[in-house]
Formats: sequence, C-alpha cells, structure tokens
Amino acid sequence: MNSPEFSSGAPPLSCHGLVRHFREQGRVLKVLRGVDLSMAPGERVAVVGASGCGKTTFLQLLGGLDTPTRGWVELKGRNLSAMRPGERGAARNRNIGFVYQFHHLLPEFNAVENVAMPLLIRRSPASEAMAAARELLRQAGLGERLDHRPAKLSGGERQRVAVARALITRPSIVLADEPTGNLDPESGEQVFELLLQLNRESSAALVVVTHDLARARRMDRVLALRDGLLAAA
Ligand SMILES: Nc1ncnc2c1ncn2[C@@H]1O[C@H](COP(=O)(O)OP(=O)(O)O)[C@@H](O)[C@H]1O
Ligand SMILES: [Mg+2]
Repeated sequence: MNSPEFSSGAPPLSCHGLVRHFREQGRVLKVLRGVDLSMAPGERVAVVGASGCGKTTFLQLLGGLDTPTRGWVELKGRNLSAMRPGERGAARNRNIGFVYQFHHLLPEFNAVENVAMPLLIRRSPASEAMAAARELLRQAGLGERLDHRPAKLSGGERQRVAVARALITRPSIVLADEPTGNLDPESGEQVFELLLQLNRESSAALVVVTHDLARARRMDRVLALRDGLLAAA
C-alpha cells in the first residue's frame, strides 16, 4: 500500500482506550471500558471470554462496523473511527476481511461467484475475479464444489467458502468471530486450519474469537476479555 495517507510504519490495526456503552431502557451497559491493542503485521491473536462479555462488540469496532463511545481504532495509522461513513466503508473493503459465525453467503450464487464477489464489487475484471476465486476454492479443498450453491454445501464447506471470500482481496487484517462456532469438531478443525493456512500465505494479521482454548493457543497471543478489559490470558 503506497497510498500517502497511510503510514507504512504503523501497525496494521490498533485500538486506543476503546470504550463502548449501550443505552438500554434508561440503563447504561458498559461493555468495553478502555481496551488497547496493537497488532503486528501478520500477527495472530485469539480473543477469548464468556458469552456476552463483548467479543462481538469488540470485533465490530475493530472492523469499523460500529462506532466507539470513546477511544478510537487505527487502520495502518489512520483513525478509522473518525472517518466519514463512505470513507470508512472504502477503507474497510480495501483492508479488512470478515468471517462470521454464520456464513452469510448469497444463496442465489454458486461458490465461485460468492468468493469472487468482493473483487467484482471493486470492479476487477470478471474473468480474473472468477479465476482467482476458483484457485482459492481449490486451495480450500473445494475444487469439486465450485458450481454448488450454498444450499448444496455442508456447513463446513459453506464456512470454508466464507473464509475464501474473506481472503480473496488479500486483506491486511482478517477478523473472525467464532468462525467454527456452528460446526461439528471435524468440520470446525478444517475451517480453522484453512483460516490459518490462508492467513500464513497472505501474511494478514488475524484476530479470531473462539471458545476453543486449544485452538486459541495455536495463535501468537491469547487475550481474554473480562469486565470490559482485555488482558493476556
Ligand atoms: N446494539 C446493542 N444494544 C444494546 N446492547 C447490546 C448491543 N450489542 C450488544 N449488546 C450487549 O452487549 C453485551 C456484549 O455483547 P456481545 O459483544 O455480543 O458479546 P459476546 O460476543 O462476547 O457474546 C451483551 O450483554 C449484549 O446484550
Ligand atoms: Mg459474539
């Protein structure tokens, strides 16, 4: 990325004193109370914590899908939280790949088209986008499933398509929110392996929320979210 507005020495992603309160029926729910994190390029971080402690809230903020009550997120040294919505959306599309617990694939498109979609949205030539999607799906072990629509895929296969879709744009950051949460142990392992493999190859930084401590320990760092604060686990 040679764009002058990005600082090349800055971490791919960092957050500073991140606070998120929700107002519910006159009560203030203090979900995040001041979270700091700085990711190194290609670094892999696991976030663990009890259900409802704010893991999804944290990832939404890191990805610029939600706005902090206080504090800010920096993407390659630029304040993501202060950008106008259109600018933030563009920065997100260029730099961040998301994987959710549910695959969110488009039901009327096949696997190749779903994976190619982020490139098509960026106006890449269709033939190149489809070729890149086919290649990534082959790496994901889905070479025999290229023309399948999501309804014709197993849960694990759908989630592997979702991982390929997140990585197709070669993002510098991948944010994965319980990507194996809905899968049986074997499919979950395949999805997790794929995420790590593609992440290694693209040297993207990775933040993954997981309940599985064994998987968390395969990352470079394990951080626990508790009482609104993030600390080494
Ligand atoms: N938009 C919202 N409005 C009000 N409360 C919310 C909202 N989003 C999340 N919460 C609350 O914030 C807390 C943390 O939620 P979440 O980040 O989804 O937790 P986790 O992903 O760790 O299970 C929960 O108590 C949840 O009910
Ligand atoms: Mg969650």
